[in-house]
Amino acid sequence: MNISTGRENDVDNWQEVMLIYNAALKQVSMKLEILNDEFQRVHRYNPIEHIKARLKSSESIVKKLKRYGCESTIDNMVQRVNDIAGIRVICSFTSDIHRIANMITRQEDIKIISVKDYLKTPKSNGYKSYHMLVSVPVYLSDRIMDAKVEIQIRTVAMDFWASLEHKIHYKFEGNAPLHIEMELTECAMMVSELDEKMLSLNNEILALLDEK
Ligand code: GTP
Ligand code: MG
Repeated sequence: MNISTGRENDVDNWQEVMLIYNAALKQVSMKLEILNDEFQRVHRYNPIEHIKARLKSSESIVKKLKRYGCESTIDNMVQRVNDIAGIRVICSFTSDIHRIANMITRQEDIKIISVKDYLKTPKSNGYKSYHMLVSVPVYLSDRIMDAKVEIQIRTVAMDFWASLEHKIHYKFEGNAPLHIEMELTECAMMVSELDEKMLSLNNEILALLDEK
C-alpha cells in the first residue's frame, strides 16, 4: 500500500479510517432503506429501485491523489478525496430524484457539504445525475468522527447510459472516436426523452387509478 502518514502505525491508521468510511456508508444506506420502506407504507410506492454502495479501493484513492498532484497521505485522502464512500441511488422516475434528495436533506444528522445538479445542467457529454456530498457522524467507542459520503441519485435509464459511457471512456482512456462520443450524447438525449415519457405515462396511470 502506498498511503503513508509519516507515522509508524500507517496500516493501523488506514484500517481505522476505512472502518469509519464503511460505517458512514452503512449508516446512509440504512437511512435510505428506512425512507424507502416508510414511503412504501404511506404512499404504496417505492421511490428507490435499488441502492449500490461501495468503498473506493486504495489503488483508486492513490490514483486520484496523483491526479490532484497530492502526496499519498491519509490526511490528503481524507481532505481531498470526496468519494471514498460512495452510494448510488437508482430510482424509477425523474420526479423521485428530488423527492429522495429532499428526504436526505431533512435528516438532522446529515450535513450537506455540496450539491451538483447535473439534471438542471447536464454535462456536455449528456451525463445526468444529482450528486450530493454529505457528512455523517460515526460514533466510535471513545469519540465521534464525521465522514464524507458521495451520493449519486439517478433514474434506471440514466444509470444505463452512465455505465456504458463509463466503459467506453475507460476502454479508450478518455479518447474515444468523435463519432462514438457524438452518438453517446445522442443516446443521452434519447434517455432523457424516455424518462420524460415514462414519467408522463406514470402520471396518467395514477390519475386514471385515482378516478376509479
Ligand atoms: P471526480 O470525477 O470523481 O474526480 O470528481 P468531480 O469533482 O469531477 O465530481 P463529479 O461530481 O463531477 O463526478 C463524480 C462522479 O460522478 C464520478 O466519479 C462518476 O461516478 C460520476 N460521473 C461524473 N461525470 C460523469 C460522466 O460524464 N460519465 C459517467 N459515466 N459518470 C460520471
Ligand atoms: Mg469528474
